[in-house]
Amino acid sequence: MTTKVTLIPGDGIGPEVTRATVRLLDAAGAQIEWVEKAATAVVGRRQGETEMNPLVESIRETRVALKGPITTPVGVGNRSVNVALRRALNLYANLRPVKNMPGVKSRFQNVDLVIVRENTESLYSGLEHVVAPGVVESLKVITEVASTRIARFAFEYARRLGRRKITAVHKANIMKLSDGLFLDCIRKVAPEYPDIKHEELIVDNCSMQLVMRPETFDMLLLENLYGDILSDLCAGLVGGLGLVPGANIGDESSLFEAVHGSAPDIAGKNLANPTAMILSAILMLRHLEQHAAANRVEKAIQHVYLEGRHLTSDVGGKATTEEFTSAVIAALED
Ligand code: NAI
Repeated sequence: MTTKVTLIPGDGIGPEVTRATVRLLDAAGAQIEWVEKAATAVVGRRQGETEMNPLVESIRETRVALKGPITTPVGVGNRSVNVALRRALNLYANLRPVKNMPGVKSRFQNVDLVIVRENTESLYSGLEHVVAPGVVESLKVITEVASTRIARFAFEYARRLGRRKITAVHKANIMKLSDGLFLDCIRKVAPEYPDIKHEELIVDNCSMQLVMRPETFDMLLLENLYGDILSDLCAGLVGGLGLVPGANIGDESSLFEAVHGSAPDIAGKNLANPTAMILSAILMLRHLEQHAAANRVEKAIQHVYLEGRHLTSDVGGKATTEEFTSAVIAALED
């Protein structure tokens, strides 16, 4: 049965990597009818609700979206469309599996961990104001409801996927109330899952241990900001942002996207690595229970990496986005 999926090409390298992914999924026989919707950065003014509505409505209807990155102007302009979408659709869990791709040279060869990031609050509440000239306040919001929900999501995920250990990452030595509440909620949920080890680590120490001994981590459970930062760090452990996929999961709908941004430095040059987007699409196919197509794409991409002749420049090759994609399509098995 064909499933409708909202497709958001996005900004910068977004259209290039989503085009590559759609080509590949169609060639792999994924049963998808794409419903394409525009969403781009709006520089110089706030993103109006009316502009977001058709997009949100489409995802509410299809319940699944595949999204390219959307630029957010730094310091000025509209608030992040990405953050607004996650909130509008209540996509509270951000899931980012980080694993070595066979054949890619990277600092470590034994990384296999999953990041679970709370996706709706913390410093991403967007509550900022000028108290007086030269003084600004940014509010970090942590609630019991959202922290308990993400903790339960992480432990359920661990149990379902056979993961053994969850490391809760925090800075509760300094932010005793906010990060303290986050930890308390996890501590209350953890005893319901005696089969899964639960440990806690301060975020700075966690960063150091990740770059020295990444193989000791299984799952990381973090509030929004630490999750955002450590996701890029973990991408660096396995060869860069071109390789790490992501999923934003809610009770009503889910949105799949790479960890990386719109990469303005390489946009429009046919240089982007579409792997992170393709791996996000594999997560989406599994979510849609289209496992045969997911397996075909996964095998083909691994084949191309192991062969090593058609890789993009971020992972040491010379191929363009399109050449890499064609090689993966050619490697699809019947
Ligand atoms: P970025 O992830 O776009 O780029 C960081 C570096 O990684 C750049 O050197 C870039 O060329 C490289 N890179 C990223 N993806 C790549 C790929 N697929 N293949 C090869 N190289 C790749 O991060 P940056 O520059 O901080 O952000 C650019 C814009 O993207 C900003 O406006 C930011 O707000 C937005 N952004 C959007 C996200 C989303 O839509 N979910 C997530 C992260 C950032």
